[in-house]
Amino acid sequence: MPATQADTKVSQYLNEAQATEQALIQTLRAHIAMTPAGSYREALEEHLTETREHSRLVQDRLGSIASGVNLARVAVWTAELGIGLAESVTGRMLAIWKAPIDLMRGRSGEEKLLKNAKDECASEALEIATYEALQRVAEAVGDEETAELARRIRADEERMLARLRQEITKLADAVVGAEVEGRPTYRIDRTGAADAARRAVRTTRRAGRRTAGAAADRVAKAGEETAGTVDAAGREAAGATDAAAAQVEEAGEQAARTARTPRRRSQTESRSRSGGRETNGRSSGSSSRSARASASRSRRAADREPWPGYNEQTVPEVRDALNDANQQTASRVLEYEREHKDRTAVEQAAERQLDEKG
Ligand SMILES: [Fe+2]
Repeated sequence: MPATQADTKVSQYLNEAQATEQALIQTLRAHIAMTPAGSYREALEEHLTETREHSRLVQDRLGSIASGVNLARVAVWTAELGIGLAESVTGRMLAIWKAPIDLMRGRSGEEKLLKNAKDECASEALEIATYEALQRVAEAVGDEETAELARRIRADEERMLARLRQEITKLADAVVGAEVEGRPTYRIDRTGAADAARRAVRTTRRAGRRTAGAAADRVAKAGEETAGTVDAAGREAAGATDAAAAQVEEAGEQAARTARTPRRRSQTESRSRSGGRETNGRSSGSSSRSARASASRSRRAADREPWPGYNEQTVPEVRDALNDANQQTASRVLEYEREHKDRTAVEQAAERQLDEKG
């Protein structure tokens, strides 16, 4: 057989094997969904993994052969034989089986599983035969690589068939237990579909928590950033307020100093008119240093109440108290009033007392 024709024939059998694997993938997924957890489902899940790997290996081998031959020629051969991937003999057989078998399923879950296992054994037998044929064709045309692949996959199929047959015994016992002895063991809440649904719920919840957590983190971060901005603005505002307050305080002190100067002058003039000794004493022989010290003492004295409870006393009460006050006390009252309260009636009373005592 010419090389190209041999490759085309091998590709034809590889395509049949590929169709078988693809059909079995769909069947196994459906059977896993209705099978409760246990040794049988473990066998099906391992079989599904293995079947996907077989499909990949067969597809790779088809690709390798196609890269060395005229793909158009392969297509012609396939068309001439009436064999397409979707309508291969194996695919048709599986399709023919599926519909009536679905209708003939047993009454109990246990019996459905047994019938599924019998189908799987039949599929395995067909796969074994398919790979046996592929192996023989590949050996005949000298395609040792394809022959070795077919040999390897066939060994997997034979091992899986043996395992499925072991499950048949247990599944048949379960049917008797459920339908004859009234001891059902099929748990619909333990099937692959139920487990998949629970996994989906858990995944959704985890995703939800992650999303909520991320959203909360974003909100917290935004809050922190906002708080930081507000804090910075607050500090800036506080700084501006402090500066303004300092300016106001400075202006106030300046105004107070300005205000004190003429009023002291007025006091001096008043005492001069009455011949007060204190005024004359201050004005005679004072240096600039003693003047500043005197002013400082005066300010400190002016900040203190003339006597305890002074701030709570009314004007008549202070005036009454001034009647008995000495010159020093009257002077403190006058200074305090000018600094803090500025009550004209009290200041006049204090000045009168100073005049009388002076
Ligand atoms: Fe397989």
